[in-house]
Amino acid sequence: MNNIPPQNRALLRIGDQNIELPTMSGTLGPDVIDTRALGNHGHFTYDPGFLSTASCTSSITYIDGDQGLLYYRGYPIEQLAEHADFLEVAYLLWHGELPNADQKREFDGLVSHHTMLHDQMNHLFCGFRRDAHPMAVMVAMIGAMAAFYPESGDVGDPHQREISMFRLLAKVPTAAAWSYKYNKGEPFMYPQNRMSYAENFLYMLHANPCESYQPSPTLVRALDRIFILHADHEQNASTSTVRLAGSSYANPFACIAAGIACLWGPLHGGANEAVLRMLEEIGDVNRIGEIIQRAKDKTNPFRLMGFGHRVYKNMDPRAAIMRQTCHEVLDELGLHDDPLFRIALKLEQIALEDDYFIDKKLYPNVDFYSGIVLRALGIPTSMFTAIFALARTAGWIAQWSEMVSTPGHKIARPRQLYTGPGRRDFVPIDRRG
Ligand code: CMC
Repeated sequence: MNNIPPQNRALLRIGDQNIELPTMSGTLGPDVIDTRALGNHGHFTYDPGFLSTASCTSSITYIDGDQGLLYYRGYPIEQLAEHADFLEVAYLLWHGELPNADQKREFDGLVSHHTMLHDQMNHLFCGFRRDAHPMAVMVAMIGAMAAFYPESGDVGDPHQREISMFRLLAKVPTAAAWSYKYNKGEPFMYPQNRMSYAENFLYMLHANPCESYQPSPTLVRALDRIFILHADHEQNASTSTVRLAGSSYANPFACIAAGIACLWGPLHGGANEAVLRMLEEIGDVNRIGEIIQRAKDKTNPFRLMGFGHRVYKNMDPRAAIMRQTCHEVLDELGLHDDPLFRIALKLEQIALEDDYFIDKKLYPNVDFYSGIVLRALGIPTSMFTAIFALARTAGWIAQWSEMVSTPGHKIARPRQLYTGPGRRDFVPIDRRG
């Protein structure tokens, strides 16, 4: 290893063994220590929860958690949320550059022409209980698509990969909207290719065959912005799940279904639903002190939902944009005195002044305000995480594509620190105590 230049050399001393490891630099962010050769010396690293482990290289999204920065392909999230639409952002995540006008037209056209589900899938919806959670339905429906497009299993073929990516981006909103329609016992509304991505989603969710339905541009824009803010977030739990599943070259629909399953949890995408339930439970600004005390109580597993983040130790930039969007949407709808929004603003203020939250660097995350916007758009709480999944599909497929097309790919196979019994001999059942 003595060919490693000194400035790129990390030295590890274990007992009387000296191990030299190379460091690697990205374009932004701290260097990493390349520990791949450690196994050759009979050692592994131990890092449950990946607190200090980079699991891959990626050129898609960059986060500086201390400064509260989020860039997609180098573009600050604030600029994209202000000037781009969701499909433009999906194109950017996928291709690495913003599209020109022709590329955008072609991309939008391809997505809008893949929005229908295979007609046979209608029967699958009907097999669920009417009260099935939309995320349970989504996991099943997106996974089931592998059965409808078996050729997508050829992940070594760039053409097949591209078709699968278009299908996923286009069909996930239809599956999400229909899971809600099924809950409501209303007819499935077929996608409208003339509408924008966000408008079409609202249409499939809220329209019915008996009346015309036209959402306001402000509300469409607000939903589009929610999609942009949730589109990617580097190697979070669900994205890592998609990469892990995809590392075996599994079918992409199955990999995205795995990502949806991971996202569902309340510590990840399920937090937006949990925030709204928490605000409803608080019910009155006078009860905020009580809820803060509960969140600080070490004997109580309760956490202030929508607060804290593994990477952001500063304000989540998405939360600031979401708070602003909240104001815009509630003003448009004449709901500026919305009680839950008032509680959220007060709760944020009190938490940000509290030593517990200051010391632990716990700030509002994107989910703190997104639920209030979604609720104002008439979207039921049970659909919140499905909407997160819909938006994150753009990032998942970009990350999956990056992984499977990167040379030198390896199946993900973590090691472990074994803590079970040592070797012992089998005891016949009549001699066991
Ligand atoms: N309320 C109260 N205490 C908290 C909270 C919270 N929301 N979040 C973290 N803490 C405390 C935690 O108890 C721990 O205290 P101690 O050091 O005394 O044991 C300390 O802060 C560090 O927490 P952690 O769980 O070790 O940190 P993590 O990086 O593993 O977890 C998190 C990050 C997002 C899971 C966590 O902050 C949390 O559970 N937040 C609430 C759920 C939530 O809003 N999730 C959405 C995340 S953003 C959307 C997404 O990307 O999915």
